[in-house]
Amino acid sequence: SKSKTLEGKTVLITAGPTYEAIDPVRFIGNHSSGKMGFSIAEEAEKRGAKVILISGPTAQKTNNKNIEIHKVTSAKEMFDEVFKFYKNTDIAIMSAAVADYTPKFVAQEKIKKSDAEFTIELVKNPDILKTMGEEKSHQFLVGFALETQNEEENAKGKLEKKNLDMIVLNSLKDEGAGFQKDTNKIKIITKTEQKEFSLKSKEEVAKDILNFVEEKFNKS
Ligand code: PMT
Repeated sequence: SKSKTLEGKTVLITAGPTYEAIDPVRFIGNHSSGKMGFSIAEEAEKRGAKVILISGPTAQKTNNKNIEIHKVTSAKEMFDEVFKFYKNTDIAIMSAAVADYTPKFVAQEKIKKSDAEFTIELVKNPDILKTMGEEKSHQFLVGFALETQNEEENAKGKLEKKNLDMIVLNSLKDEGAGFQKDTNKIKIITKTEQKEFSLKSKEEVAKDILNFVEEKFNKS
């Protein structure tokens, strides 16, 4: 296995979905299991990094006592938690599936069924990654892009707009890739390079991502 190539580095990782409350019993969420983010956290820890893992609601667990886990529920909470640690982060890898919108009002009581149609008004959540890009000083910033169409173009757009050093693209069009699965198929994109990987376990994908990060980070 790898030597302690990330010794002395602080790596901040987000994982899982966010839940945006509608009322005390309902939320808007997504299918992220947290597997991708937890795999990256485990691998970074193996390589000697100080790992801070900020996770939305997931069933994922780690027995690794060296991984500092901070649990959050909503995108707003994830935002606040990320910025407690960002300043002292060397490498940030944002694999969480963050809700872009949240209900404008959260009902205090369970919403009752009636005969009428029902509409939920949504407002925009803060974009955590974009804000990190704006406030970037020394950090090496890695985003994810989950796409269903015009994958590369959209990923490159996010790399640019969010001021990232690299983006990890996965497409729901690829079988075995994305949410819930134990495998993923990624393409890594930087401003000057692009590298495509085969379908493999999320543990192996985590290694590919960190190998790439280390190579760039050591040059930057
Ligand atoms: O958890 P798993 O089941 O293992 O699945 C893994 C995964 C599919 C969730 C993961 O590989 C992945 O693609 N994560 C990013 C999902 C996503 O929300 O992508 P996006 O293209 O919508 O967002 C782009 C980037 O901006 C992401 O790094 C995201 O964390 C970030 N973002 C998005 C919205 C927002 N309000 N704030 C953000 O920081």
